[in-house]
Amino acid sequence: MPAESRQQTTYDLLVESAELSAVIRKTELDDLCIIPATVDLSSADIELISNEKRSYLLHDALRQPAMDEYDWDYILIDCPPSLNLLTVNAMVAAHSVLIPLQSEFFALEGLSQLMLTLREVRQAANPKLRIEGVVLTMYDRRNNLSQQVEQDARENLGDLVFRTKIPRNVRVSEAPSFAMPVLTYDSGSLGAKAYRQLAVELISKNQEMAAE
Ligand SMILES: Nc1ncnc2c1ncn2[C@@H]1O[C@H](COP(=O)(O)OP(=O)(O)OP(=O)(O)O)[C@@H](O)[C@H]1O
Ligand SMILES: [Mg+2]
Repeated sequence: MPAESRQQTTYDLLVESAELSAVIRKTELDDLCIIPATVDLSSADIELISNEKRSYLLHDALRQPAMDEYDWDYILIDCPPSLNLLTVNAMVAAHSVLIPLQSEFFALEGLSQLMLTLREVRQAANPKLRIEGVVLTMYDRRNNLSQQVEQDARENLGDLVFRTKIPRNVRVSEAPSFAMPVLTYDSGSLGAKAYRQLAVELISKNQEMAAE
């Protein structure tokens, strides 16, 4: 891939209608490709306001004919924490939403706002949008607050909450500075084990659903 085209990011995909092939990059893992983002993306929100198709840009980008050249099992769209036009683009484009819930005091409050937005997106644009599940992250089992958040989440959301919890684990926070996923950085760490377990749980949930 020529160097110039490697400079292209999700910003180009959304705002400049770049071709998928120009923005997708291979990684060191054979089965994983990424479309990188830069800080440019943070201004996309404002630049897109007057665009009539502003909520459908990612939906359309991921459904361009070039997509047929790839055979993805999963496409993960990493969203900002705030509910803005980028998040809406992701929800309009996606089949489901995976919600990380930090084991902190206000976590559940943010969740009720998210549920309202999900309902609006379903009504306006993507009726089949599912909740993939809620995953407890930064979990510290010695901390009462973590246990309280888990209990509240399971009481209120039931089976939507994954059994797997992601513990607070320093290896997870170190991995990005080596530009590595934690699974490669320290495959035996508690964080890596938990993420693998989450993948197993998610895939088996999906298989059960497909069999129904
Ligand atoms: N399980 C974990 N244990 C320890 N540290 C973690 C864990 N998960 C994430 N972190 C650290 O917490 C910080 C925020 O994590 P991350 O970037 O995944 O969160 P985010 O909500 O996506 O943030 P952003 O809004 O910046 O995208 C990072 O420094 C990361 O390394
Ligand atoms: Mg993030």
